Amino acid sequence: MSRRLGTAPDPGTLDPIERASADELAALQLDRLQWTLRHAYDNVPFYRRTFDAAGVHPTDCRSLADLARFPFTTKAHLRDGYPFGMFAVPRERVIRVHASSGTTGRPTVVGYTAADIAMWSDVMARSIRAAGGRPGDIVHVAYGYGLFTGGLGAHYGAERLGCTVVPVSGGMTARQVQLITDFRPDVIMVTPSYLLAIVDEFVRQGLDPRASSLRTAILGAEPWTQEMRAEIEDRLDLDAVDIYGLSEVVGPGVANECVETKDGLHIWEDHFYPEIVDPETGEVQPGGAAGELVFTSLTKEALPVIRYRTRDLSRLLPGTARPAFRRMEKVTGRSDDMIILRGVNLFPTQIEELILRIPGLAPHFQLVRRRAGRLDELTVRVEARPDAPGERRAAAAAELVAAVKGTIGVTVAVEVLDPGEVERSQGKMVRIVDQR
Ligand code: DLL
Repeated sequence: MSRRLGTAPDPGTLDPIERASADELAALQLDRLQWTLRHAYDNVPFYRRTFDAAGVHPTDCRSLADLARFPFTTKAHLRDGYPFGMFAVPRERVIRVHASSGTTGRPTVVGYTAADIAMWSDVMARSIRAAGGRPGDIVHVAYGYGLFTGGLGAHYGAERLGCTVVPVSGGMTARQVQLITDFRPDVIMVTPSYLLAIVDEFVRQGLDPRASSLRTAILGAEPWTQEMRAEIEDRLDLDAVDIYGLSEVVGPGVANECVETKDGLHIWEDHFYPEIVDPETGEVQPGGAAGELVFTSLTKEALPVIRYRTRDLSRLLPGTARPAFRRMEKVTGRSDDMIILRGVNLFPTQIEELILRIPGLAPHFQLVRRRAGRLDELTVRVEARPDAPGERRAAAAAELVAAVKGTIGVTVAVEVLDPGEVERSQGKMVRIVDQR
C-alpha cells in the first residue's frame, strides 16, 4: 500500500521516556497525576466545585485507576469559564493564548505558561521525529497560523527539533506549490484535505507531484482514512503519517504515528493520560474497546484538564514501536459528526473509504443532508477524477450507492460532479452540509 516505511530514529536520539518500561512510565504518571489534581483543585474554582460535589479530593487518587472517581470536564465547562476563568495560574504567567472556534457562540480559550509552551514544543519535536523528520530538515508548515493551534504548534516543534521552518500557513495554493518547488522541503505539515488541494495545484501547473522534494507528510486536525493515506502516498511518493491533538489538551502533538510502523498513534502518555469511555454512560471501557477518548493533562500549568471528553471515537491499543506508550487507533470521527440516517449510524470516514475504492471517483466529497417529507436524505456529492471517461460516471455513482447499501446498510443518493466542483478546504474540510 505505502511507498515505503521510513526508518526508525536512531535510539540514541529518542527522549529517555520513549525507551522507558511500562512500570517506569506508570510511576511517573501517578506522580504527575497527583500533582495535577492538587494543582487544579487548589487553583481553579470550577475543579474545586465539581470535585467537592462528587465527594472526591485529590488525596483520594492513590493509583492511576482512582482517576475514574473524578468528574469529567466538557467543552461546555471550558466555555462557561470564558475567557480566562479556567486558568490555574495568574494571568500574568500566561505567555500565550489560543482559541478554538466553536460552531456556535463563544470560542474556547486555552492558555500556556512558558513551561507549557516548552512541553508542547518537546512533544511536537518528538512527533515530527517519530514521523521521520530529522534535525536539519526543511519543514513546510501549511497549517493555519493564528488562534488555531496547528501552525504555531508545528512551528515550535520543528524549531525545537532543529529544522528549518517555512511558516507558510494555509491558503494561496499556487504559492504553496512555488515554495515547495523552490525551497525543496523534506517535510510538509498540513491537513490531509488541504494537501489534496496542493496536489491538484501541482498538476494544474503541469508539475509532477511525485517529483517534489517532500519525503514525509504529517497530517491531522481532521479524520482521514487508510485509503486516503494510500491515495496521498501514491500521488506524492512520500510517507504520510497521522498526528492528533486538540486545543483543550494542548494542540497538535498529543499523539503521533511512527513512520516505521504506521499502526496507530503513540500517545505521549508522559504528558497526556488517556481513557476510553462509553459515550453514553461515561463508564471506563476495558483495553481495546471502542469508545470516546478522554484525556487528563499530567504536566500542564496554565490550563490543567481533568478527564476532558474529546468526543473523538477511537480505541486504545498496546504499544509497539514505543513499547510503553499505548496507541490510539485512527479516529473514526467525532460523535458530533455521526449522521443517523433512518436509524443507521454513519460517519464521513466510512464514505471516504468506499469512494476511494471506486475507480473514477476522486477523494473530494461532501455529504449533504436534506429533509424530504418526514425523512432525512443524504446525498454524497463527489468529484470524478479528471482522467475518468465521461461514461464512467453513471457506473461509479451506481457502484457507490451499492457499496454504501452493502456495507453501511442505508440508501444514499450520489451526485458525481466535475473536477473542481467540490469546494476545497484551506484547513479543516467541512464534510457535512446540513440543509434541513
Ligand atoms: O485540530 C489540533 C491539531 C492541529 C491536530 C494540527 C493535528 C494537527 P482543534 O482545532 O481544537 O485542534 O480540533 C481538535 O480535531 O478533537 C478531533 O476531532 C480533530 N482531529 C485532530 N487531529 C485529528 C486526527 C486541532 N489526526 C479536533 N484525526 C479533535 C482525526 C483529528 N481527527
